[in-house]
Amino acid sequence: MKLVLVGFGNLGRGLARTLILKRRTLRSSYGINPRVVAAVDEYGAAVDERGLDLRKLLQVAEKKGSAADYPRKGKKGRSAADVIENVEADVVFELTPTNIRTGEPGLTHLQKAMRAGRHVITSNKGPLVVAFPELDRLARRSGVEFRYSASVGGAVPVIGLARKLLAGNEVRAVRGVLNGTTNYILSRMSKEGTPFDVVLREAQEMGIAEKDPTLDIEGIDAACKITILANALLDRNAKLKDVDVTGISRIKPEVTRLAQETGNAVKLIGVAERDILEVAPKLVPIGHPLAVGGTLNAITLETDLAREISITGFGAGPWETSSALVGDLIDIHRTLGA
Ligand SMILES: NC(=O)c1ccc[n+]([C@@H]2O[C@H](COP(=O)([O-])OP(=O)(O)OC[C@H]3O[C@@H](n4cnc5c(N)ncnc54)[C@H](OP(=O)(O)O)[C@@H]3O)[C@@H](O)[C@H]2O)c1
Repeated sequence: MKLVLVGFGNLGRGLARTLILKRRTLRSSYGINPRVVAAVDEYGAAVDERGLDLRKLLQVAEKKGSAADYPRKGKKGRSAADVIENVEADVVFELTPTNIRTGEPGLTHLQKAMRAGRHVITSNKGPLVVAFPELDRLARRSGVEFRYSASVGGAVPVIGLARKLLAGNEVRAVRGVLNGTTNYILSRMSKEGTPFDVVLREAQEMGIAEKDPTLDIEGIDAACKITILANALLDRNAKLKDVDVTGISRIKPEVTRLAQETGNAVKLIGVAERDILEVAPKLVPIGHPLAVGGTLNAITLETDLAREISITGFGAGPWETSSALVGDLIDIHRTLGA
């Protein structure tokens, strides 16, 4: 399978490393021979229709900062749009930064890839919260597969769980701890009674929280994910603006301590039901599947037949998220062969 990687940052590089690590397994267990024919970042692209040497590509990107520095086949200034439209490929991975207002540049990349007949895999929440129904329709009209498991929950395979393993069930509600940064902050506030600002600063120093943590602590990142899950699993037609959002920045240590004393934990919970779309701090009984600690994510699906099913795991990180990206690649391969 010929692959194009659009975005060669944390996840693009993590995926390249995973493809090296899993080369043999992909071939022997799944019959997939992945060939990365292009990698694109903001500065330019490396393109080789016979397949780039991934070790060399990683070395160059680490040392010089861009895939465009790849010897002989790298070109500064070559855009993702140009590569998507003109380099023959089976699958385009869209792994550029999330923009929740316009969805760009990811939205245009996805649209161009679908119109060019490429199957698409993305981790980018931006296009999904701005234009999910439109993208879903475009994928169907273009006859291409569209996968986005990595956009929610990192390694936690909630979309595959609902669609594949719980096939035949109606998903009636989704509830989840969908943001590792806020969960880490709330867990430490509960355990130590430390104020929000202090834990946030330490989380930033440890690289768990961003320098600008607004999207996480105000609940926007979790709201993006609950929007995606509502569309994907509850067949809703939701946009980010439809979610009622309350973040965690006003939670005092007294609240987390009192919760603890009464056998509860304060968790930032995303909820999607037929008539509800919200993200807000809630009390969860200690021992409940959603009362996970640290940076973990946890999601409960409420279904008609299986009743409640919960799943827990790591919500971010290049290896963890590449589990979802590679899983989507294998899933597309299976679907096409079916
Ligand atoms: N990191 C995670 O654990 C994780 C987990 C789940 C989902 N996600 C989502 O996955 C996406 C990628 O995450 P990341 O951590 O890999 O981000 P990242 O490290 O910032 O990498 C983004 C990459 O996209 C490139 N890029 C930016 N604008 C571009 C454009 N117009 N055309 C082509 N390439 C462009 C950047 O190029 P330059 O470096 O040249 O600027 C960089 O290579 C984001 O949407 C993120 O929210 C991340």
